[in-house]
Amino acid sequence: MEGEKRETQNQAAEEEDQIVNPWEVAAKDGGKIDYDKLIDKFGCQRLDQTLIDRVHRLTGRLPHVFLRRGVFFAHRDFNEILDAYEKGKKFYLYTGRGPSSEALHLGHLVPFMFTKYLQDVFRVPLVIQLTDDEKCMWKNLTVEESQRLARENAKDIIACGFDITRTFIFSDFDYVGGAFYKNMVKVAKCVTLNKVQGIFGFSGEDHIGKISFPPVQAVPSFPSSFPHLFSGKDDLRCLIPCAIDQDPYFRMTRDAAPRIGYHKPSLIESTFFPALQGETGKMSASDPNSAIYVTDSVKVIKSKINKYAFSGGQDSVEKHRQLGANLEVDISVKYLNFFLEDDAELEHIKTEYAAGRMLTGEVKGRLGSVLSEIVERHRAARASVTDEVVDAFMAARPLPNMFD
Ligand code: TRP
Repeated sequence: MEGEKRETQNQAAEEEDQIVNPWEVAAKDGGKIDYDKLIDKFGCQRLDQTLIDRVHRLTGRLPHVFLRRGVFFAHRDFNEILDAYEKGKKFYLYTGRGPSSEALHLGHLVPFMFTKYLQDVFRVPLVIQLTDDEKCMWKNLTVEESQRLARENAKDIIACGFDITRTFIFSDFDYVGGAFYKNMVKVAKCVTLNKVQGIFGFSGEDHIGKISFPPVQAVPSFPSSFPHLFSGKDDLRCLIPCAIDQDPYFRMTRDAAPRIGYHKPSLIESTFFPALQGETGKMSASDPNSAIYVTDSVKVIKSKINKYAFSGGQDSVEKHRQLGANLEVDISVKYLNFFLEDDAELEHIKTEYAAGRMLTGEVKGRLGSVLSEIVERHRAARASVTDEVVDAFMAARPLPNMFD
C-alpha cells in the first residue's frame, strides 16, 4: 500500500517539469525556472507596471531596483495594502529567515534589503521571525546550535539597516507561547493532514514535527500574535516580502485566516538569486563556490566571479566581437541586474556586451567592484552589531512610535 503510494508520488514528481517548495528549487532538466508557470500554478498575481507606478506615486520615491527590474515579480493582494495605505491606514511587514548556516550569501540578503526599503518608504513596523525550530527539525542541527545560528544571523539581518524603533526580531524557541501560541492552535484546527500533505508534499515517513510546523510560520501574519506591539489593532493588515518558495506556507495561512476571523496577509514575492554557475535554481548552501558570501574577501569575490560566473560571451575574442554575448544566460549581467543601481549604466553595459563591443572580462570586472562594495559595506555594518544591539532588537517590547 505504502509502496504503491510512493510510486505514484514519484511519478507525479517526474512528470512535473519544475519543483519549487520551501525545501527544494529545481528547474526542468537543468533549464531555467519558468516564473510565469509558477504564477499560474500557485495562483498568485503578476506584479505589473501599474502597481509599481502606484508605489512610486504613494511613496514619492523612485521604486527600489528590485521592483524596477522585476526581482519582486509576483504578489497576492498587494493592491489591497496600497488601497488601505492610500486612505491613511498603515500596515505592518513580516518576513523571516530559517537560520541554517553561519554565513549568509547575497541571495539571502535580497528579501531583507527589499524589506528595509519598504520599511523606510512606508514608515511601518516590521516583525522578523527566526525559525530556529524549523531548521532544527529539517536540518541535522541541535536545539542549541539552531539558537546560536539564529543570533548570528540576526546580526547580518540587523546590518541591513533596520530601524530599531520599528523592528522586532524574534526566535521561535524564545518567543512562541501566549497569544502567538493561541493563534497557532486556531490555525492548526483549520488544516487537515491531507491538506498539509497536498501543500507541502509530506509523507507518512516524515516526523510529526514537520507536519506541525506550518502554523508557526503562519501566525506572525496576524497582529494579535504580538500583543506588546499591536494590542487593540486587530484590524491591521500584514504584508509579507519573501522569495516565492515560501508561498505554500502563506497559501495555507490565507486559507485559514477568514475562518478564524482574521485578514488574509498580502504577499510580495521575488525570484531566486541564481547560482554563479547558471540560472537553474537557487544557490546551494552545500557548494561554497556557487555563491558570494558576505564573509568573502574582495579577493575571493573577484576570483569566484572570474572563475565561476557563467558567461554568455563567445569562446574567442574574434567570435565575440562578431556575434556578441547572449545576455539571457550570462550570470554577470543577471547579478548586475540585481545590484547595479544606475539604470543608465546597466543599459549601456547590456547594449555594448550584446553587441560584442564589451568583453566578458570587462563585465566581470565591473560586477566585482559592485559586489565588493556591497559586501564591504555589509561587513562594516555587521562589525558594529554587538550582542547588546541584538538583545535590544529581540526584546519583546512596545514600539511606541512605530507608525510615525
Ligand atoms: N521558512 C523560512 C526559511 O526557511 C523562514 C521564514 C519564516 C520566512 N517566516 C518567514 C521567510 C516569512 C519569509 C517570510 O528561510
